[in-house]
Amino acid sequence: MNQQTILPQNFSPPTGQNSPGGKLEFSDKSFSSWRKYIYDICGIYFQDSKKYLLESRLQKRIMYLNLESFDQYLDFIRYNANGAAEKKYLFEVITINETFFFRNQPQLDALVSSVLPEVIADKIKLGRNKVRIWSAASSSGEEAYSVAMSIVDLIKPKYPSFEFEIVGTDINQTMVDTAKKGIYKDYSIRNSPAYYLKKYFKQTPNGYEIDSELKKMVSFRVMNLFDDLSMKAMINFDVIYCANVLIYFDLSSKTKVISNLYNSLSKGGYLFIGYSETLHGVSKSFKLISYPKTIGYKKE
Ligand SMILES: C[S@@+](CC[C@H](N)C(=O)[O-])C[C@H]1O[C@@H](n2cnc3c(N)ncnc32)[C@H](O)[C@@H]1O
Repeated sequence: MNQQTILPQNFSPPTGQNSPGGKLEFSDKSFSSWRKYIYDICGIYFQDSKKYLLESRLQKRIMYLNLESFDQYLDFIRYNANGAAEKKYLFEVITINETFFFRNQPQLDALVSSVLPEVIADKIKLGRNKVRIWSAASSSGEEAYSVAMSIVDLIKPKYPSFEFEIVGTDINQTMVDTAKKGIYKDYSIRNSPAYYLKKYFKQTPNGYEIDSELKKMVSFRVMNLFDDLSMKAMINFDVIYCANVLIYFDLSSKTKVISNLYNSLSKGGYLFIGYSETLHGVSKSFKLISYPKTIGYKKE
């Protein structure tokens, strides 16, 4: 969609006032209103120290839309008929999407050597043959595809009759579109073992493209982890990755998201979070399991 089409028809023509390079004032009051609004819709909490970051990110969008102030942009999103569509762009400017392939190798090792063999053994007892994995906050898809590569390489040959479904979700539409395309630049593959690079990527003029068979195992869509209704629809997962997103939440939003993720897991399912994240003080529902150089959280 053309970004301009989201503007109201009777919107004032560009005044030229907001020329690139100009600076709008971001008062403490505006910052508080914006912080509360963002927090309420997606759980991301901008600390006081991140005021400047929020200011510079919102300002780019305000300039683009030729609006005149931070408050006007907030009103536009909240009350204008096109405000709901604008949220897509808001999420693009406020999220940090840093990710890369094989970001957390110890977690992948734990997945293939302990978690999946256990989950699969339980499924066999129940006469089931499908494993479901969710990369919640998948950004541009590197985490979900790293899981897919590890499974195809190390698990599939041992359990050929098993089906593996991997779902990636993120609040940022552009990241989801990139994940679906599955074409990556050098930055994303910098940590990828040469073996996987050779086996599961094709070099194209646009970058490294994920193998088409692997793409079929993984689906991506936009989803807000803070949206209770969407979260309630995510059920029966055996493994959930929710890595490097809790750091943007405060305790209360972490608690809400983790409790929903707990409900999304099947009994005996596992949750993995980021290196620098912890569920200490957030949830007591999981059993902490130690693996070499990493930990996982089990729903018993
Ligand atoms: C730093 S990336 C982490 C990507 C990947 N999980 C990893 O560990 O490499 C954080 C992602 O969380 C997403 N995100 C932030 N808030 C979210 C929310 N409320 N719902 C869904 N995704 C969210 C961002 O758009 C971003 O792509």
